[in-house]
Amino acid sequence: MPVELQKARAPEVRVLRTPDEVAEQALAELRRVGERTDRPLVSFATGGTFTAMLRALHAEVVAGRFALDRVQATHLDEYEGYAPQQRGSMVHELGAACPSLLGMLARGAFLPVPHRADEAELRRHELRLQQLGGVDLQFLGIGRNGHLAFHEPMVPWDRGYHIAELSTVTRDDARARFAPDPVPLRAITAGVATILGGRRLVLCAFGRGKAPAVRAMLDGEVGPACPASALRTHGNALVLLDREAASLWTPRAASSDRSG
Ligand code: F6R
Repeated sequence: MPVELQKARAPEVRVLRTPDEVAEQALAELRRVGERTDRPLVSFATGGTFTAMLRALHAEVVAGRFALDRVQATHLDEYEGYAPQQRGSMVHELGAACPSLLGMLARGAFLPVPHRADEAELRRHELRLQQLGGVDLQFLGIGRNGHLAFHEPMVPWDRGYHIAELSTVTRDDARARFAPDPVPLRAITAGVATILGGRRLVLCAFGRGKAPAVRAMLDGEVGPACPASALRTHGNALVLLDREAASLWTPRAASSDRSG
């Protein structure tokens, strides 16, 4: 990629003191989109990175400070065969951290990712999101191998929703979630093409374990070896890191903000 293009599209990076500050700034993005009157579509990510933000969101809803009926919602990915109400599923996880999302699910305002590996169902899901106007705000975590959602390394970037064969690293990281059962081999996931269609991307990462992936995302080559490097081709992406996740990254003046 030409250097100029890469610079022009560099994500804004904020390095914050603590994971709680990361969660707070992520929530601020949701509040901002929630001020709109056209029921924007928000797509949540799952994983430990978002637990604090989701709990804080639920507290705001309960306190009457945020009205979830101002937005529509979906999420990024689901383990194959895991229905929304089943323990281990992504929707179950979202609902455990933020029960008010289950209210949205019940009234059809939250669109769950299909849990069956059925291509026609995937295309219908993708079409419904497009009919709702597309994703306005997309939250993202990053895998230790640089995956975005479950779009794994070396999978071509022209993929939208697809059936992912989960990598060994991804399955290792999910072991505790399913123990004593085995981790599913496959998941249904948004692809880089889907994710780049979102109008605003907000990626959060904290902890030393994410530092190599963060460096690859921000400093490495832009390409399928690191799906998260796709953020450098987007133009409206925000990366929220704590100091540990940012510890191997070399900031460049144009894109960085060492605010912590
Ligand atoms: C899950 C997802 C994944 C996670 C990533 C980080 O919906 O999209 O890409 O965001 O694996 O997971 P945690 O937050 O558990 O480190």
